[in-house]
Amino acid sequence: MAEVRPAGPADVRGIAAVYAPWVRDTVVSFEDVPPSADEMAARVGAALRCLVAVDGREVLGYACATPHRARAAYRWSVDVAVYLAPQARRRGLGRALYERLLTDLRDDGLVTAYAGITLPNAASVGLHEAMGFTQVARFPHVGFKHGAWHDVGWWARPLVDRLPVPPSGG
Ligand SMILES: CC(C)(COP(=O)(O)OP(=O)(O)OC[C@H]1O[C@@H](n2cnc3c(N)ncnc32)[C@H](O)[C@@H]1OP(=O)(O)O)[C@@H](O)C(=O)NCCC(=O)NCCS
Repeated sequence: MAEVRPAGPADVRGIAAVYAPWVRDTVVSFEDVPPSADEMAARVGAALRCLVAVDGREVLGYACATPHRARAAYRWSVDVAVYLAPQARRRGLGRALYERLLTDLRDDGLVTAYAGITLPNAASVGLHEAMGFTQVARFPHVGFKHGAWHDVGWWARPLVDRLPVPPSGG
């Protein structure tokens, strides 16, 4: 029975192992070289939030939120991403990871979550739309990998019912 919980240092090797085939064998990720466990530890440490779906100590999947962009006015916006081990797909884990992640991000005071999806990707589009994301943009031929140009679509999901007025200084 899988459990969703915050990622810790003991999970980074498993997170790197889940991510590696999507980097190596697909255009889902635009990276060329799978990050090492040390590099993944740095990324998890720098993320706003990272969750893992685990069965015992085995990492089956993960979802992380990172700042959308660095400049100050963007600080209520986050990018989210989710990856599962191939054999762990279609068991509700993507949904479980995102339900917890989006709730945590809302509780953190964040306002909008964004996801960039290399197209086509029926599973990712299906998950994001099932979680309330809607498509807001499509960047044509924005990346070249594995011998072809690829479009990336952007999906957005409000985390709040109405836009807050941030405290002064914003
Ligand atoms: C995208 C991904 C995370 C989905 O996770 P998952 O655990 O398989 O999805 P779930 O079982 O939680 O499904 C939740 C919903 O997503 C949608 N969905 C999931 N897989 C789908 C598929 N292959 N085709 C269409 N819709 C799909 C469905 O609406 C589903 O609801 P349902 O089960 O009631 O039909 C998983 O396929 C994956 O890791 N893919 C490779 C990495 C990737 O593309 N990550 C996203 C990068 S942008």
